[in-house]
Amino acid sequence: MARYIPDDVLETIRQRADIVEVVQSYVPTLKRAGSLWKACCPFHHEKTPSFTVNPARGIYKCFGCGQGGNVFTFIREMEKLDFPNAAELLARKYNIIIPDTPPPNARFGRGRSAASSGSAESPESSYALRERLFLLHEKLAAWYASQLRDFPDSPVARYFATRGLPAETAARFSIGASPDSWDAAILFAKKEGFTEKELRLSGVVSTKPENETHIFDRFRNRLMFPIWNEQGRVVAFSARSIEADPGGWKYVNSPETPIFKKSRTLYALNFARRAISEKQCAVLCEGQLDVIAMHRAGCTNAVAPQGTAFGQEQASILGRYTQSICLALDNDKAGREAVFKDAAILLPKGFSLRVAVFPGAKDADELLKTQGADVLRETVEKADDFFEFAFRHITKDLDLDSPAGKAAAAAGIAAYLHLIDNPVTQGIYADWLAGKLSIAREFILAEIEKNRRSEQEKKERAAIYSSNAGRQEDKKETSSAASDFVRKEPPLSMRHAGLRQAFYELLSLLLASETYAQRAVGDLEAELLDESPAGRALETLVGAAMNGEWDEAPEQISMMMESQNIRDDEISGLLMREADVQPPDDADRIYRSCLTAIRRTVLSDKKRRLIRHAMSLPDGSEEKKKLSEEISAISRKLLSGCS
Ligand code: UTP
Ligand code: MN
Repeated sequence: MARYIPDDVLETIRQRADIVEVVQSYVPTLKRAGSLWKACCPFHHEKTPSFTVNPARGIYKCFGCGQGGNVFTFIREMEKLDFPNAAELLARKYNIIIPDTPPPNARFGRGRSAASSGSAESPESSYALRERLFLLHEKLAAWYASQLRDFPDSPVARYFATRGLPAETAARFSIGASPDSWDAAILFAKKEGFTEKELRLSGVVSTKPENETHIFDRFRNRLMFPIWNEQGRVVAFSARSIEADPGGWKYVNSPETPIFKKSRTLYALNFARRAISEKQCAVLCEGQLDVIAMHRAGCTNAVAPQGTAFGQEQASILGRYTQSICLALDNDKAGREAVFKDAAILLPKGFSLRVAVFPGAKDADELLKTQGADVLRETVEKADDFFEFAFRHITKDLDLDSPAGKAAAAAGIAAYLHLIDNPVTQGIYADWLAGKLSIAREFILAEIEKNRRSEQEKKERAAIYSSNAGRQEDKKETSSAASDFVRKEPPLSMRHAGLRQAFYELLSLLLASETYAQRAVGDLEAELLDESPAGRALETLVGAAMNGEWDEAPEQISMMMESQNIRDDEISGLLMREADVQPPDDADRIYRSCLTAIRRTVLSDKKRRLIRHAMSLPDGSEEKKKLSEEISAISRKLLSGCS
């Protein structure tokens, strides 16, 4: 719980909490550059470092997104805490005792208030709650582990023995056993002082729809794997059935909670992050047991998504550590398909990709067991370049001596070449493929261009669907003198990946949180949205929130999409999420960074267009004058940081 922190204690914290050390614990890629330290910014996605730490002044600043501050600000941003809680977190980390002094005049010092008064969900209470959930998970993890150690004859312990994991591995990964009981964990947690409400919020208990007043242990008679967050705190569990080959329900996982968001979690990242950053490569596996096998074999840079497929957010998280990934997925049809899916996520983000193929084994875990650590390690070290792998699979059944076979191969691989965001890299691979197929590189470039065009057409079709609705006429009368030609272009977010991502991230957040949806009513001017599916969905959502119908927004969005023939799988996915999906921990940061990205991108684009238009007008004309005024107004907005 946050409490009053006297000024001298704050000063001690400021002196002891070395900003380089604190930032480095979140951003391990932070490297010295003269008297400064630099890294890719943890607050926005970037490929060249513009995030700078100045230890002499105790401050950081990102010249890409503008975020900056001191060690307290950094923790506030990273952990989404208010000032006293951020200070307290640092005090704990540096073993600084905060005395129990009452605040002068019963107020917090320096006019800072501990919790934003009035808001229903104060950061303080959510901080306190999250701390309770962390503590509960930590205690439960230790308890499950002791159940495995202390009852070697239990069914779970006997199953665990068949997996052949040494005791030190079990200890390192805190592997445990849940008893074959409906309430053993509940009784343990209650004895430790946790309330039923906390248990429900933690997701370690479950209820039946027909009787929601009765809770029972979610994990029963299973092998327990704690799931850690990036900072190494237990936030969830994944529990394997003790059948060797179970039908359904092989794993039961924690649901999403205030401390656990699946799409942002990577199993064992807490252990792997240093190695990932040192080796400048992450090994991406399919599940816990494969990650554990990798770590046992010395590949301590291995992680896996947890309870979901690998997605955009996890890719961005890995991107903070490295730009190179080795996919080590199961050696079966599903695993191969996942390689191509993951590649479609990772290539556009600039990652270089390799694929490890396990010879004669289903996955890393089996390979370690049957052929040993050296073979597993070598498999990773000798992993193929993704395009070699893709070539092998795509051309498997093709006759590469025939023109038709060559054409099919070129088309199949170009579908992935065109995802590469770097033109030089793309050109090198085009040469490589041309060589492999003994055809001129122009043919490969033509295939890439074909892919690019067909994607563009797809986008334009979607845009036409949107504008067919004819709603833009009454909705979007912009005051711009050049509004006509601004409007005819395909929507900006269809052409600008960063803007598109900001739209989707914001949509996801606003669907999960009414509080933020209400904030967006004030912040998200209609001129920032475009006629893309996500733009339309945001517009509908904000409209619903404005009318006090936020809870009907998913329904309204799907009706809007249906009536206008808009198809968008990502939005449909968001609409199908469980009704009680929680906003992410760093909702505030996401909200602000989305808004900044949207404002900056839309305004810069508008400015660019207006300038281009103005240049085509005769000097001194009335229209040109109006345009220059508009352009300077936009420049001022952009300079003021868009916020
Ligand atoms: P696998 O089915 O490949 O399991 O699922 P595994 O880790 O190889 O386990 P063994 O070796 O058969 O015992 C890979 C991952 O997918 C998720 C889990 O995270 C698992 O580690 N998963 C799988 C689920 O969440 N639920 C399931 O029902 C199955
Ligand atoms: Mn396995």
